Amino acid sequence: MNNRLNDILKTRKDEHIYVVLENDVVTKRTTWLECVNLIHKSLPEIDLKSIDLRANLFNKIFDAPILIEAMTGGTELGAKINRNLANVASEYNVPMGVGSQRAGLKNPDVINTYRIARETAPDAFLIGNIGALQLRELSFSDIDKLVSMIDANALAIHLNALQEVIQWEGETNYSGVLEKIHEITDYLSIPVIVKETGAGISKETAYMLINANVNGIDVAGVGGTSWSAVEYYRARKRNDETKANLGKLFWDWGIPTAASILEVVTAIHESGRKEKVYVISSGGIRTGLDAAKSFVLGADFVGMAKPFLKPAMESIDSIKKFLNLFLDELRTALFLTGSRNISELRNSKFVVLSPLKDWIEQRKLII
Ligand SMILES: Cc1cc2nc3c(=O)[nH]c(=O)nc-3n(C[C@H](O)[C@H](O)[C@H](O)COP(=O)(O)O)c2cc1C
Repeated sequence: MNNRLNDILKTRKDEHIYVVLENDVVTKRTTWLECVNLIHKSLPEIDLKSIDLRANLFNKIFDAPILIEAMTGGTELGAKINRNLANVASEYNVPMGVGSQRAGLKNPDVINTYRIARETAPDAFLIGNIGALQLRELSFSDIDKLVSMIDANALAIHLNALQEVIQWEGETNYSGVLEKIHEITDYLSIPVIVKETGAGISKETAYMLINANVNGIDVAGVGGTSWSAVEYYRARKRNDETKANLGKLFWDWGIPTAASILEVVTAIHESGRKEKVYVISSGGIRTGLDAAKSFVLGADFVGMAKPFLKPAMESIDSIKKFLNLFLDELRTALFLTGSRNISELRNSKFVVLSPLKDWIEQRKLII
């Protein structure tokens, strides 16, 4: 790796953070979770105070079904964010992902910006991260390095075809990626998650991933951060009109999060695979009510990136304030549906309205 690429990776990571914080990078389309209606129970017959939010991910019990999604590393700012997030992950016993570790793999000087998460949270469940496109250039010993960099409990491989095509310096040869994913799932003994980054995962893609033996699928659908939008702003800054136009056109491209959960759940069901494939709902999850609706659709966990970013740059207390609010909202949704815990919520009744209803019918999804 030459110094120029190191510099690009480093600058890009911080630039992404500032673009997300300073611009409107959210999709104009929604998650479609507003189409999901939980049924109010006037006689919940439970005590709000006794509601149990614990949940299982990869056979480990966490205190809440919330995953702090992959964002950063590779810079001083990234290190600060990772340290603050890891502090909260440890205190609240929730899993946390670090951002793409590509920079750490290529430049040992920045390993500490990821490693800080493990040092801050020796017992936390930490998830490593690498782009699917990068897998082709990595050996198994590189994969070992990714894992040992943070003593990862799981590895997430991200899919970002939309971002790469809009990114002015993007890489767009996605051939042979699935085979590499399969090699990694065969090689690693820790769970492998494949995640999108805001465009959602279809039933057909989920089949491919299930056949490649992944242990978790993180849908990261439309409704939250748009990477087409992020790259639109970066292209504009560089006067790259062509990429900026593409970014504008594909701003909302992809599958809304609610639809993507059902696409993936259907694929898992139809595949008949015996070993559990965990489903993480992310992309535009902003409230505990969004989380509750994700669970009735069949998700095991929810994940959030952008909502954690500003608080993580401020302080540990800011992150805790956001998380406490979110947990209160989720608890309220459980109370008002008469659910003592997440599995009871998952079995509660709900009504789906259009446009999600139309999508379910045309795509023959299971609900
Ligand atoms: C500043 C920022 C940096 C991100 N970097 C990564 C990354 O390195 N690897 C990755 O898999 N996803 C990355 N993501 C994508 C998120 O993990 C997530 O899939 C996406 O933002 C959708 O969730 P949200 O709507 O809650 O933000 C990043 C997101 C943000 C906001």
